Amino acid sequence: MKKQLFALLFALVPFSVLAAPGAGLPYSMTPDLEDEASIQRGMRLFTNYCMGCHSLEFQRFARVAEDFGMPKDLVEENLIFSPELAFNDQMQIAMNSGDAENWFGAPPPDLSLEARLRGPDWIYSYLLTFYKDPSTTTGVNNEVFPLVAMPNVLEPLQGVQEKVCAETDRPMEGAELDPLTGKYQSCDVLKVTSPGSMEPDEFQEAVYDLTNFLAYVGEPSKLQAQAIGPRVLIFIVIFGVIAYLLKREYWRDIH
Ligand code: HEC
Repeated sequence: MKKQLFALLFALVPFSVLAAPGAGLPYSMTPDLEDEASIQRGMRLFTNYCMGCHSLEFQRFARVAEDFGMPKDLVEENLIFSPELAFNDQMQIAMNSGDAENWFGAPPPDLSLEARLRGPDWIYSYLLTFYKDPSTTTGVNNEVFPLVAMPNVLEPLQGVQEKVCAETDRPMEGAELDPLTGKYQSCDVLKVTSPGSMEPDEFQEAVYDLTNFLAYVGEPSKLQAQAIGPRVLIFIVIFGVIAYLLKREYWRDIH
């Protein structure tokens, strides 16, 4: 009996609790699945900049369109680039993973469950911390995924980011505290040295949207669950009142 109880307990622990944000990540974000515009922008970024290499096998174009009120013809025109894919298809890619492994040295993984696996904070930090590093094959390196095989595909938007020596508020590894200013001196501070098409805060918002979209893709039914939750609570309260009145009615003659 005890075993069953434990099994039940574990079944009830939501996944998001297990995928708690990793400590020590440089950035964090809170997904907002109610923000329709953000998810739509995130999906557009994903289909434009990521779907050349990464699939979302568990997600259909039609499902996202339905969940976020996007008309079918707009999705077909603006978000589906491969002639082999249709509105009702899963978000697959044409690249074969064997080829990809040869080209990049590591296959670009399917990202359907990435937000559950790594957590949104990790994805957000990952996409924001590519920096120039001529010693790698791709010419870039990454703060949270050292020596990653992925090129910095968002560089046209972000610009070139490099490690520079500067002051920072964050107690980083190897940083020295300046007792006068209370700030840290470090030579690992990431800074955009040659601008892209977006300002740094604009780029950060774009990456927020992209991460928000991937958080939705990781748990598409969370949206419905969030909508149903309050209704269930209201039902329980109303039913509780009715049950109480009924109980009073039944016991009236006995007392
Ligand atoms: C040119 C191909 C290519 C494009 C385009 C690309 N990636 Fe990648 N990505 C890769 C490769 C290759 C890896 C595997 C890296 C490794 O294991 O070293 C990867 C890894 C990742 C990972 C880490 C996966 C893990 O191991 O947990 C994430 C997250 C990711 N990519 C997100 C994105 C996003 C978001 C975009 C769009 C902005 C994107 N990628 C565009 C090739 C690509």
